[in-house]
Order: sequence, then structure tokens, then C-alpha cells
Amino acid sequence: MESMKTSIAGMPLQHPIFNASGPKCTTFEELKALGESAASVILHKSCTLEPRQGNPEPRYVDLELGSINSMGLPNLGYAEYLKMMPRLKTFGKPVISSVSGLYLSDNITIVRELNETLVDAIELNLSCPNLVGKPQVGYDMEQSDAVLEAIMAISKKPLGVKLPPYFDFVHFEQMAAILNKRHVAFVTCVNSIGNALFVDPEKECTIIKPKGGFGGIGGDYIKPTALGNVRKFYELLRKDIGIVGCGGIKTGMDVFEHILCGASAVQVGTQLMKEGPSCFSRITNEFNSIMSRKATHPLATFKEN
Ligand code: DHB
Repeated sequence: MESMKTSIAGMPLQHPIFNASGPKCTTFEELKALGESAASVILHKSCTLEPRQGNPEPRYVDLELGSINSMGLPNLGYAEYLKMMPRLKTFGKPVISSVSGLYLSDNITIVRELNETLVDAIELNLSCPNLVGKPQVGYDMEQSDAVLEAIMAISKKPLGVKLPPYFDFVHFEQMAAILNKRHVAFVTCVNSIGNALFVDPEKECTIIKPKGGFGGIGGDYIKPTALGNVRKFYELLRKDIGIVGCGGIKTGMDVFEHILCGASAVQVGTQLMKEGPSCFSRITNEFNSIMSRKATHPLATFKEN
């Protein structure tokens, strides 16, 4: 097969690889660098109603096998991203807005305003693990159902949902039933595995400061969990709901594995933070050379052992 054109939410993509919301996608300068990179989409940092400074530092640490973060949603506030939209669209690729309001009413305000912009799609974040006193919505099935009902009723843009990782088949089934009821365009599986703890045994302390050192982990640590979530949602969701894989992607082979499990596109988080936006041309070249050795789409031949 030649390189893999794909689509998400009805948007044609040159290839499946773009950034995860989080690393290096908060300021215009960072988003411009993504626009100029080989990433197939520009996705901005999850935004809130008001600008936020986020949690105290150190709040992000690179680890040999991944990362831990408790950023606390530092972002410019949704109005800045609205203003940037015409400039972001000049890069000739789809733009997705990640929305993570602190309250349902904030999300409603933000989505109503995004409806009137050039943004191509919305990724509603139901899975931020780093806010004190704010449980991850995606782990509360009733609340997720209510939020989706309210947001689907007003969104004029294709709507995707960023999910936390699940670890129990019952929870996959419950969330899939909620998503299958609605006109969701895509799901992104997965956000970081929340509330992990890394300690420094020399200094006898936690390695990040916020929330007593607890934070979301990404990178190699979470690839098997991400693949499990991609695969299970691929099995359970309506086939018109696209799956965006996220978790542990640093090479073209990682992309191939996500696609084998059912992803139509993939996002790169930790590796973007480590390597910068040039990771997109490297990973895309690696993926293309794997695909050039294949006769068919990976999903056509995937089988259980
Ligand atoms: C943050 C982390 C997340 O995993 C997320 O989905 C949204 C925000 C943060 O801490 O900024």
C-alpha cells in the first residue's frame, strides 16, 4: 500500500499522524510550528472559559519510558483560540479545538462560540486527571451521558470525545453504549493514565509538585493500555464513529500497531514533548515505509493469535 490517506469526522487527512492536545500546542508560536510541521491536523491545548496559569512547577517531567504531568490546564482561554482560528487555517490542514471547560455551562458557552468559527471539529475532553476536586468526567457514566446529551444538542461542528483509559470490560461496554446513542464523530483513546506517582529515592520526594506528586503518565508505559482501549472501542462502537489512537506513539511501528487495532488516526503526545514537531516527518516516513511493504489495509488482515 502507498502511504495511508485517512479521514476523521468526515475530514480528509493526508496521513493519520498529528499532535495530542497537551504538549507544545498552547501558544500561537507552538501552533504555528505544528502548522509548519508534517502533522496532518492542528489540535490546540484544551481550553477553558478563562485563561489559566495552571498548577505550580515542577509539573511535567520527562522519564526514560514516558512522562508524568500535572499541568492543571494552563491555556490562553477559549477566546484567544477563537481569534487565532483564521491564522491557524492558513496552514491548509484541519484544525480541531480541544474543549475542557470546568463546568458544563462553560463547555456550552465555548461550543456555541466555536460553532461560528472556521474550526473543523471539536474534541470534548472528558478526561483531565489533574484538577483538584474535579473527578474525571469519563469515569462517571451518568455525568458523561448528561454532558454528551447537552453538548450534542448544540454543537454544529463534528464532535469527538477524549476518553480516559478504561480497565474493565463492563466500563468499556457502558461508555460504548452512551456513545453509540449519539452522533459522536470520533473518540480519542486514551488520555494519560491518571494519578500515578513517581518518587526520587535520592531526594526522598515526589518528582512533580502539584497534587502531592500525583500525575498523568504517558509514553511507553501506557501503549498496551492505549491499544487495549482502541481495540475494545473498535469492537463495541458503531462503525461510523472514528477512533483516534493516543498513547505510546514514538515510531512508525507504534502508529502501525494502533491502526492494526482499529485506529483511523493517531496522536503523539509525550514524544512531541521530547523531540519537538520534527517528530512528525520522522514518524510519518517510518510509517510510510512500513505501509509500502503491505498489500492491504492492516485491519483487513488483523487476527487473534
Ligand atoms: C491537563 C492534562 C490532561 O490530561 C488533560 O486531558 C487536560 C489538561 C492538564 O493538566 O493541563
